Amino acid sequence: MKTYLVTGGAGFIGANFVQYMLNKYTDIKIINVDSLTYAGNLENLISVEHNQNYEFIQADIRDEKAINQIFEKYDVDYVVNFAAESHVDRSIENPSIFVETNVNGTLNLLNLAKKHWELEDDQFKPGKKYVQISTDEVYGSLGETGYFTETTPLDPHSPYSSSKASGDLMVKAYADTYKMPVNITRCSNNYGPYQFPEKLIPLVINNCLKKENIPVYGDGMNIRDWLFVEDHCKAIDMVINDGVVGEVYNIGGHNEKTNIDIIKTIIAHLNKKVDSSISEELITFVKDRKGHDRRYGIDPTKISKELNWLPDTPFEEGIIKTIDWYLDNREWTNKIVSGEYKDYYSNMYSQK
Ligand code: NAD
Ligand code: TYD
Repeated sequence: MKTYLVTGGAGFIGANFVQYMLNKYTDIKIINVDSLTYAGNLENLISVEHNQNYEFIQADIRDEKAINQIFEKYDVDYVVNFAAESHVDRSIENPSIFVETNVNGTLNLLNLAKKHWELEDDQFKPGKKYVQISTDEVYGSLGETGYFTETTPLDPHSPYSSSKASGDLMVKAYADTYKMPVNITRCSNNYGPYQFPEKLIPLVINNCLKKENIPVYGDGMNIRDWLFVEDHCKAIDMVINDGVVGEVYNIGGHNEKTNIDIIKTIIAHLNKKVDSSISEELITFVKDRKGHDRRYGIDPTKISKELNWLPDTPFEEGIIKTIDWYLDNREWTNKIVSGEYKDYYSNMYSQK
């Protein structure tokens, strides 16, 4: 029975991953460690909270004592680190917390995994692995052609992507210096259930339902490479089990869309399904994000060839599933947008 220490499992991708794994395997144990920042929400995990193979511990990945106690109590086989500050706009306003969590938090996890897994110099207990969940944003921005491969030089631009790149480099340092067994995954933009409504897709859905303006940064022609979150979870599971130790894997499904295309797709579905007054008139062009990356695009050749991973969900299907999930779970969004988010939204968007 393998024991997974999943960090950040109460956030968007982490919660989807915990559910995916507990649905797929009955012979694993998941310890979910999350400090429950504004982005962490235990309601995302209601479906597994009574599962005997699941346990939640509220702790900060920067907290040496708390994380050490977890390693002492459980024989952890895999660390899967999702915990992060993840929103680019917030990183532009307040970079420090991004360094604290995404760099120092990662370093603390690496140190404690090393402490508990290392046998002697260059030797680790067999079967252990540290998996860092990273992002394609560490590669910077593409022009109209080309893709990010695993050997594309790191060229992050925002405080968020720079902190993720720094975290990745610490993981690489532990692999190169101490021979710690690691993988790094770098995924493109995810979408799906449980995504916090500050991110583009749930923000647009929520604003449409509330008939509020949809703020489009710049000319709306920035391109992101969208991946359904369950396909990401499937890839991470494959990397944990079969990824070659020390390797980086890019994860993406060639689903590049401009922001304006995404927004129009959402409006069209809600117009048909919910209310014909939801229209493109809600689209409002606002001041561009500072340092806004123009295009992201992943080359997934390595993970598809080595691990036989391919995404299962075409964008046209995934986006409808996602919109419908938000329609069926309006209470989930309403609770979030009536709390701290309200102040965040008015502060952030009053400047645009
Ligand atoms: P999220 O913001 O929804 O969730 C982050 C989670 O981490 C939250 O539950 C939060 O409470 C927790 N957390 C934050 N700081 C913590 C700390 N110091 N200690 C413990 N827990 C802490 O993020 P997400 O979208 O689910 O992203 C998960 C990971 O995947 C991140 O590392 C992110 O960089 C990466 N990623 C995200 C995307 C995307 O499109 N969302 C794409 C590629 C990579
Ligand atoms: P986001 O969901 O924040 O993800 P990321 O910046 O990590 O790619 O944004 C996706 C794209 O949508 C990005 O190009 C910025 C743009 N965007 C808007 O135009 N308006 C918004 O209100 C938000 C949140 C994002």
